[in-house]
This record gives sequence, structure tokens and C-alpha cells, in this order.
Amino acid sequence: MRLYLSIDAVAKALGSEKLAAALQAEAARRGIDLVLTRVGSRGMVWLEPLLEVETAAGRMAFGPVGVADVTALFECGFGAHAKALGLTEGIAFLKRQTRLTFARCGVVDPLSLSDYRAAGGLAGLTRALAMTGDAIVAEVTDSGLRGRGGAGFPTGIKWKTVAGAVATQKYIVCNADEGDSATFADRMLMEGDPFTLIEGMVIAGIAVGATRGYVYLRSEYPDAIATMTRAVAMARAERLLGASVLGSGFTFDMEIRTGAGAYVCGEETSLLNSLEGKRGVVRAKPPLPALEGFLGKPTVVNNVISLATIPVIFEKGAAFYKHFGLGRSRGTIPLQIAGNVQFGGLFETAFGLTLGEIVDDIGGGTLSGRPVKAVQVGGPLGAYFPRALFDTPFGYEEFAGKDGLIGHAGLTIFDDSADMLKQARFAMEFCAIESCGKCTPCRIGAVRGVETVDRIARGDMAAIPLLTDLCNTMKAGSLCALGGFTPYPVMSALTHFPDDFARTKEAAQ
Ligand SMILES: Cc1cc2nc3c(=O)[nH]c(=O)nc-3n(C[C@H](O)[C@H](O)[C@H](O)COP(=O)(O)O)c2cc1C
Ligand code: SF4
Repeated sequence: MRLYLSIDAVAKALGSEKLAAALQAEAARRGIDLVLTRVGSRGMVWLEPLLEVETAAGRMAFGPVGVADVTALFECGFGAHAKALGLTEGIAFLKRQTRLTFARCGVVDPLSLSDYRAAGGLAGLTRALAMTGDAIVAEVTDSGLRGRGGAGFPTGIKWKTVAGAVATQKYIVCNADEGDSATFADRMLMEGDPFTLIEGMVIAGIAVGATRGYVYLRSEYPDAIATMTRAVAMARAERLLGASVLGSGFTFDMEIRTGAGAYVCGEETSLLNSLEGKRGVVRAKPPLPALEGFLGKPTVVNNVISLATIPVIFEKGAAFYKHFGLGRSRGTIPLQIAGNVQFGGLFETAFGLTLGEIVDDIGGGTLSGRPVKAVQVGGPLGAYFPRALFDTPFGYEEFAGKDGLIGHAGLTIFDDSADMLKQARFAMEFCAIESCGKCTPCRIGAVRGVETVDRIARGDMAAIPLLTDLCNTMKAGSLCALGGFTPYPVMSALTHFPDDFARTKEAAQ
């Protein structure tokens, strides 16, 4: 008998390790020869721990499975059981997705290079190895891929700048700091399909002439750190990394570095300082990291998902990838649906679904069953969208046009019990705590912002224009997007939910 059980940190937090032990013990008691393969997550968080059994028709899913279910599952031969969900691929949440970047996640053993190859892994690299650096960069440009870390900068243009720079050493730095609220795509990918990221980094290195890479991985992700570290060692042993990548003559090697828990260290220049062992403070641009990045050398800084999408682009071709999407937002995006929601998880889809489709259809509305009041899209610096804007299609320009951003595609859903004044205060407080301190509009502005929201909460309506003025100053005068984008959640809360700010002095007392 072959079973598959998620080893992702979410499944572990929900009891998958105890479940694994119980499955092994029950199989031994019954004299059943059990092969229990640990896989990454399929991304359906409400079904974790998700257990799958191999059948002639495909993998059949059960979830969420607890230790208490084990005896009955063996008893019914993993057939008719209250937790049975049918074919995994048939579960609506999964069936409706277009899984390109996450095609192997939850399917393969994350640390089996032979599984990886059998599922199409290394096909992209093999193709790229036969191309010139310029042709690789052109393919990435043609695919329309834009950075998935938040800013949506075209990946091909960034690579072209680094490729064109003349230097003795260049670097590929993968931004795995994933600090945005509601986001977990980077973690899921690194825990569930680490070789995809490694393959993407190798292709980037060959394209721009970089021989060394680093993954800057947040310390809060111990499982991802362990999986990536083992995967890098295995890739080196199999000559996927090292002096001659797959015997091609190209050199590329990489290592995992751990961050220390500052949100601002996800900002690329701050990250580079941290990677160099310095304080994680933002650097002024120019110079661009593409020209003077890690240790002053030309550096590609890309998000995990940007780099992990490179292999599929080379495996299937730029035209294939580009054909998905909407407007200038090409390809697929792994939406991360979280907060007060019924079906939370990762949903990879072509750009273009409306916010309403994502929240109501896919997410199934709130877990509390109360009406959705607001959705914060794009992490702590993203705007709050009211239901009136639920017809906004998911795309970079479409969200920017509504004074919002998609960021790293995290969505936090709130029901009607949310107090948007408190959320505005939280945004300012978050900025005050996480500010690197380099520029005044952010360092001082965020502290004054908290005080100003508190004045409004006390019924001082004269403080509202002051808050607007402060937001405009932070937006225009901050050195980076931490101070520059904090006005998005604050102003969207004020604009779309004015009633929450209309406190009377009497009510405040
Ligand atoms: C305060 C702040 C935090 C950020 N955090 C992250 C992060 O955790 N991960 C990430 O990939 N990009 C983050 N970014 C964006 C990076 O600065 C940079 O744009 C990105 O790593 C570039 O990669 P991409 O082009 O592949 O998106 C952050 C930016 C700011 C201003
Ligand atoms: S905006 Fe804030 S985090 Fe960014 S450089 Fe200025 S002080 Fe630092």
C-alpha cells in the first residue's frame, strides 16, 4: 500500500507527524506493507493533514485526517469513509487551478531528484544550457514574467541589466524573506519542490554570467531552511550545482543564508546589507543592485516565485507562459487566501479573476459566516478593498488603478466585525516598529500616524485632514515602500470605511 502525507509546516502544525506514526503502527499491526511518502502541501489548508492513497484511478484524498481516523481508514480499506474526498485532482479547489509554478508541489517527494526529473524537472535547464545567455534573457523577457516579490518589475529587463554589466563576479540572490501577512507561497514551494527554485537560480546564473547564488531565507521558516539546505547538498552531489553544471562547463553554486526577522530585510537593498553581515538598513538607489548589489557587484535579486517560475517557462516556452493572464500581467499567480475565510490556501491561477470570484467563489466567504467587510490585498502595505470594488480583476495595473497593489498576492479577509480605524492604526504601528530608521517621513511619520489615529479614535475629527496630509508626506517623501506604501492601508480604510472613523467624543469615553 502506498500513502502520501504532507510534510509541509502547516500539516505538521496540524498533527501530520503524529498521524504518520499512527499510520505506520497500524499498518505494522495489520501486517500491511506500507510505503508512506512524505510530500509537500497541495495548498488546501483547511484539509490538512491531507492523506492520499494510491489507486489504479489515481490518488484518492482524505482530509483533514487525525490519529482518531486511522483505524477506521484501514478498516474500510481507504474507501468509503466520512473524510473521503474522492480523487485529489477532482477536488474543486485544485481542479480550477492552473498549476505551472506549483505543478509538482504536493505531488513529488521534495527531496527526491529522481522524482523531480520524472515529473519534468530539469527539462527547462537542459533547454537553457543549449542557448546563449542573451537568448535566455530574451526568452524570460518574452514570457512577460514580472517579479512576484511585490513590485512587479519585469524580470527580463532586470536580468538584461545584470547580463550587460562588466564585472569579475556577479551574483544571484533569491529573496525568501516572505514577510507579508497572509503569504506562504515561497515557503510552500521551498518545502514542497525545492529543486525548482535551485533550477531557476542556475538558469539565472547562466543567463547573466553569475557563478554564485544565495537564498536569503527567513529564520521563521525552519522547515524550509532544512529542506533547502538538504536539496542544495543533493544538487551539488548530483552535479546540478558546482564547477560544471550537468557537465556543461558552466559553474554555479549556491548556499542558504538565514535572516534574523526584520520585515524591512525583505526590501532588496536592506536584504543585501543583511547578507553582507551589516545592519538591515535600506540603501539609497541608484546605484541599482543590478549594477552594484551584493558586495558591490552586479546582482539579480528575485523573489522565490519569480525564480521558481523560470523552469516551466523554459520547459514549455515563453509563448505558452505568456498566453495566460490579463493585460500586462502575464502567466499565473499563486494567490494566498487567508484571514477569516472558509477555504484558505494557495490557489495558482492565470491573472484576471475578479476579487469577488476569489473571495466568494474560491474562498467560500468568511469562516465566521458573517458578511465580508474588507480584503487587504498585498500584505501589510496593501489597500483594504470593500465589496464595492470586488469587480477589480487581479492584475498589477488593475489594482494600481484602484489605489491598491497586489504585492506578493496575499489576501487577508475580514468580516463585518472588523474595525477599520483599528486596522489603520495597526498599519502605522507596524511601520513604526519595522521602520529601518533611515528616513524621517517613515521613522517619525509612522509614530505621529499612530498618535493621529488615536486622536481620531478619541473623537477629534480635526485630526482627519492631518492624517491625510501625513499620508501624502510619507507617500512622497519616504526612501522605500515601507514608509511610502503604509498610506495605502491607512487611506483605503479612511476612504472606503468612513463610518469607522466617525467617532464621537461621548462614544470614545
Ligand atoms: C518593506 C519591503 C519588504 C519587502 N519584502 C519582500 C519579501 O519579503 N520578499 C520579496 O521577494 N520581496 C520583498 N520586497 C520587494 C523587494 O524589494 C524586491 O522588489 C524583490 O525582491 C525583487 O524580486 P522580484 O522582482 O522577483 O519581485 C519588499 C519590499 C519592501 C519595500
Ligand atoms: S521608508 Fe522607512 S524602512 Fe524605508 S528607508 Fe525610510 S525609514 Fe527605512
